[in-house]
Amino acid sequence: MTLKVREILEKEIFTRNDIISLLQSEGEDRTLLFKKSAEVKEKYIGNKVWFRGLIEFSNICSKDCLYCGIRKGNTNLTRYNLSDEEILTAARFAYDNHYGSIALQSGELESKFVTDRIENLLHKIKDLSDGELGITLSVGEQEPDVYKRWYDAGAHRYLLRVEATNQSLYKKIHPEDSRHDFYRRLSCLKSLKDIGYQTGTGVMIGLPFQTMDDLAGDLLFMNDFNIDMCGMGPYIEHVDTPLIAYSGELMSPGDRFDLTLKMIAVLRIMMKDINIVAATALQAIDAIGREKAVKIGANILMPNITPGKYRDNYKLYDNKPCTDDSTEDCQSCLEARISLADAEVIYGEWGDSKHYDLRRRLSAEN
Ligand code: 5AD
Ligand code: FES
Repeated sequence: MTLKVREILEKEIFTRNDIISLLQSEGEDRTLLFKKSAEVKEKYIGNKVWFRGLIEFSNICSKDCLYCGIRKGNTNLTRYNLSDEEILTAARFAYDNHYGSIALQSGELESKFVTDRIENLLHKIKDLSDGELGITLSVGEQEPDVYKRWYDAGAHRYLLRVEATNQSLYKKIHPEDSRHDFYRRLSCLKSLKDIGYQTGTGVMIGLPFQTMDDLAGDLLFMNDFNIDMCGMGPYIEHVDTPLIAYSGELMSPGDRFDLTLKMIAVLRIMMKDINIVAATALQAIDAIGREKAVKIGANILMPNITPGKYRDNYKLYDNKPCTDDSTEDCQSCLEARISLADAEVIYGEWGDSKHYDLRRRLSAEN
């Protein structure tokens, strides 16, 4: 029997079918979903937003994901790698402007050089901020001992999107080789959690071949895995990637956007106290896309603080917003926008996942 959306929203635990119904809700039902998710956010998080100053420090990548604009096989872009000094300057900017945290993101490379470099940068960033800047890393799959070294050096959150939890979909959007192994992805997520990171994952929404059932499975995975943070956004095609061949089969960008909001709303109701990012990709489709996400459940924003001259070359997808803004422009425009969404930007705080605190406390008691 299929329940009505109003009945589903009263339940404590959603089944796969419930989630599918919520993701397909339209009209009044959709309004009810968003009303409920906004209430949950208000109750468990408050109408607050924390910043993670995003430093996209290199677009050099050893992988070839079929959707991604910085994939190794794309020769149509200039590769860059910020100097340590440039990274530290960006981190100092975040600290001086009272951002609680930064996020260091790059293409995926595994090497002793990269491990040592990031470890060294983490120490320096901690030093320049008297240990106050929180640091999220998002540099892909690595060996457990590498994750451990970075954790010991001061990174305390890690974002590794699983991209798609249905293994057959995962295979369709990645090359079939050992560098793009679904099980390694899962084992990396497990290592991160075991080491003690606040662990975040996420998926792309509106991918070719993806079904509502896949998306419901993604949310159930996040719940079962007991993640602390989530970053998910609409899939946006990039002309220089193999998946561009399937553009004709996609939902409209507007529908991908709407479905992403629904995914965020359902996840907020399922996992009340986790951190959820309002992804930049939302803004590539709708000028006030991130603000809309904040209204219905997201509580983290990642203002781009990568030096402007490099930004144009970190195009994971086409139409990426703000690539020509200066860092300061980004901050003031974001702040005004967030207050339009009736939310408040909280400065000088890490804004850790409350879910993580609770999870750690419970495991310490057992
Ligand atoms: N559209 C939307 N998101 C993308 N990402 C990569 N390529 C695309 C795309 N074409 C996302 C992936 C990755 C994150 C850094 O960016 O989910 O994990
Ligand atoms: Fe770089 Fe996927 S293309 S990790």
